[in-house]
Amino acid sequence: MKIRFGKYELENPVALAPMEDVTDLGFRLICKEFGADIVYTEFISSEGLIRSARKSTQKLVISDKERPVGIQIFGGDPAVMAEAAKMAEEAGPDLIDINAGCWVPKVAQRGAGAGLLKDLGQMRAIIHAVKSAVSVPVTLKTRLGWDSNSITITEVAKICADEGLSALTIHARTRAQHHDGDADWDWIRRVKETAQLPIIGNGDIRTGQDALDMFRQTNCDGVMVARGAITNPWIFKEIKSLMRDGTLPSTLDLQERADTCLRHLEMEIELKGEKRALMEFRKYYHGYFHSIRNGSALRSTLVRLETLDGVREAIREFVDSSSSQVTAAAKTLTDA
Ligand SMILES: Cc1cc2nc3c(=O)[nH]c(=O)nc-3n(C[C@H](O)[C@H](O)[C@H](O)COP(=O)(O)O)c2cc1C
Repeated sequence: MKIRFGKYELENPVALAPMEDVTDLGFRLICKEFGADIVYTEFISSEGLIRSARKSTQKLVISDKERPVGIQIFGGDPAVMAEAAKMAEEAGPDLIDINAGCWVPKVAQRGAGAGLLKDLGQMRAIIHAVKSAVSVPVTLKTRLGWDSNSITITEVAKICADEGLSALTIHARTRAQHHDGDADWDWIRRVKETAQLPIIGNGDIRTGQDALDMFRQTNCDGVMVARGAITNPWIFKEIKSLMRDGTLPSTLDLQERADTCLRHLEMEIELKGEKRALMEFRKYYHGYFHSIRNGSALRSTLVRLETLDGVREAIREFVDSSSSQVTAAAKTLTDA
């Protein structure tokens, strides 16, 4: 089944998941460059939006370069969610996504996020209120159920289809599992068999092959990657290449990783200013510089640096010394 978001018609799309403090504009643009077909903002509090809290409204910033892009909102009150959805719509997204999956107690225990899995009537009321408030497509992202004794995902899929949502994303774990244990993809397959709306599968895609396996095993209409994109932002390149012709592209070499990392950091600085961007960027260094010789030493240096020039210099020195080591090793081999 194709997924339609306004003028976008997507066949087997690969999405970057919404992730708090991770999927800001800079990171979304990098994942888009690597081939992500849909990207989402991190979740935004509906209460924060209607109070015009700066922390919430800042997260509404999107760019034409990342389309189609979804803005995700969360909350437990239908009227507040409707109001927040209208504000989100003004930012110009291609869709609005309702978060019905966040397990964190301060969200779920207040009846928002995964808390909605405990009260499907309230979930329907929220979907209805949001859908009626905006004219852009609306989607929902949720989990299998509150816990293993209350798997409600089939009912949720029915509610979403009845209310005219454009897609349902299933993170194949329960609220009780948080991020522990394995995602149970078989539930995605079972829901997909009867669902009357497109299903995006999510949970435990760490490699290109995982994405292919999820498509094949569940027959889902799209897949979504979260943690796998933090540890490997070019996972989208791998997935798209495998889907296209079954080949894996060569992994990024050190120079390409360094260039991408610096481009990403420069975007973040443009958005947030140098000081804040450098603090918040620390979580991304691992993704760019893991699985390489002396990568951990470079990362420990980078997280302590407080200027862009310092980061540029440290990365340049690292790349230069790594390539001189490679050249020396090649010379030793030739001489031998
Ligand atoms: C750091 C982090 C932040 C997250 N923030 C959100 C969020 O804002 N909204 C949401 O729907 N899910 C959020 N999630 C859940 C992911 O979108 C995804 O459903 C989950 O990590 C499973 O996918 P994965 O196995 O590919 O990581 C977050 C996950 C992580 C690791």
